[in-house]
Amino acid sequence: MNAPLLQVSGLKVAYGHVEAVKGIDLELHEGQITTLVGANGAGKSTTLLALSGLVKKSAGHVMFDGKDLTRMAPHKIVSSGVVQVAEGRATLTTLTVQENLELGAYTRRDRHSRVHELDYVFNLFPVLKERANGLAGNLSGGEQQMLAIGRALMAKPRVLLLDEPSMGLAPIIVQDIFRTLRDINRAGLTIFLVEQNVRQALKIADRAYVLETGCIVLGGTGRELLVNPKVQEAYLGS
Ligand SMILES: Nc1ncnc2c1ncn2[C@@H]1O[C@H](COP(=O)(O)OP(=O)(O)OP(=O)(O)O)[C@@H](O)[C@H]1O
Ligand SMILES: [Mg+2]
Repeated sequence: MNAPLLQVSGLKVAYGHVEAVKGIDLELHEGQITTLVGANGAGKSTTLLALSGLVKKSAGHVMFDGKDLTRMAPHKIVSSGVVQVAEGRATLTTLTVQENLELGAYTRRDRHSRVHELDYVFNLFPVLKERANGLAGNLSGGEQQMLAIGRALMAKPRVLLLDEPSMGLAPIIVQDIFRTLRDINRAGLTIFLVEQNVRQALKIADRAYVLETGCIVLGGTGRELLVNPKVQEAYLGS
């Protein structure tokens, strides 16, 4: 197997005296979907925040394509190509859909390429194109999640980080979101997906990790974990 595109080693994060992430190792490989699953409070969001540079790491390293992101500022991490999708609710409701998307391209000066990205996002989410001049606040929950993903894509990421994009959405919309993630991935984007929707996440994942109280307890391909008896018992209700 090729060298990983992004490698996390020995990552620890503490909130005060409470260690939320206790020294984890994980790898993202170029062109793959990797998922991190686990129960409430396992430390999934904290892991993502650490990758994005939004919480302090108390130990460990993050290497991305030969660059050391460990102590890099959040905006530099974004411009280096590692971009986290904001929560759906974080769309700016008093701006139009298109204005929200254009904000996602703030790190990119080149107008020509911005137009290209906008076309790509509108193509991926036709509903956003239809509603381009409408206020983002009038979108449904699922559409706001699509807008959040679209906004991240405007930064032309090489790695897309997502924190529970299916949360709070109706099952049919969840299917849409997962299908879209697969499409984006097939177009070449490397994805790191944090999910409590373990079954769906494992189904689309090339590789997967299970996080329990800050420690990675299992790893393998998505398929391996789907049929793993421990995973089935603890996370798949069977
Ligand atoms: N800002 C914070 N201050 C103090 N403790 C925090 C903070 N954020 C998270 N924690 C604690 O760190 C641990 C990991 O939380 P985290 O949000 O990373 O888990 P999670 O796996 O994303 O959970 P969920 O599935 O509920 O989103 C939990 O015990 C949580 O209570
Ligand atoms: Mg979380």
